[in-house]
Amino acid sequence: MAMKPLIAANWKMNKDIKEAVSFINKFKNLIKNIKNTEIVICAPFTSLSEIKKLIKTTNIKLGAQNMHFEEKGAFTGEISGLMLKDIVEYVILGHSERRQIFHETDDLINKKIESALKNKLKPILCIGETLQQRNNNKTMKIIKNQLKGCLKNVSNDEMKNIVVAYEPVWAIGTGKNATPEQAEEVHKFIRELLSKMYNETISKNTRIIYGGSMKPNNARELLSMPNINGGLVGGASLDAKSFGEICNT
Ligand code: 13P
Repeated sequence: MAMKPLIAANWKMNKDIKEAVSFINKFKNLIKNIKNTEIVICAPFTSLSEIKKLIKTTNIKLGAQNMHFEEKGAFTGEISGLMLKDIVEYVILGHSERRQIFHETDDLINKKIESALKNKLKPILCIGETLQQRNNNKTMKIIKNQLKGCLKNVSNDEMKNIVVAYEPVWAIGTGKNATPEQAEEVHKFIRELLSKMYNETISKNTRIIYGGSMKPNNARELLSMPNINGGLVGGASLDAKSFGEICNT
């Protein structure tokens, strides 16, 4: 694939400001020579401003892990795209933890995507099946419903700013990654869907990244598949050395 791969860290609810700063100071040296890969750190809201100061002269980009679909108002505890747009470039939306723990639906995620795009943020849209769904041969149906539901009304032009992350729920935090073949099968299916929903060019140019127990020792195999254009890394992104290794893969 000619497109620039993207490796993103999803720190989830980890690291206080001091820990985040110490990570970045170490990490920036490990990846300073990387030019052909986009590197994004999706940190908790509390650390974003500090990290932003530290990455000014580096090749690291910043992302958030969630946002509300409204821009402002009486939504205690929420953060909006309007608030994020001056700090981050990317925002993870529809992560399975948001879907499962916080009951986010495709409809809600679609509203968030709409608001993110309006605020010139680049959504990393997560989709993926549970183990039960996979065992019941529902994987492709689930992927299709999630993709269509979350991208409803997203225009051809807006698709330039969308990254799709395939994250099989059973592979997240379990140490049991999808095999490169399993992942490739779904990535290829997503690309075919995008081609039907949009067109060939958009389908070819959309980055489809893989997430779920990606580690330094399996990243190369996964990333060498033709339709895998990067990774969304949880656990292994918390350590500068191991995330650096994945970025250097
Ligand atoms: P792990 O890499 O810890 O499996 O998490 C993946 C993930 O959820 C990234 O968004």
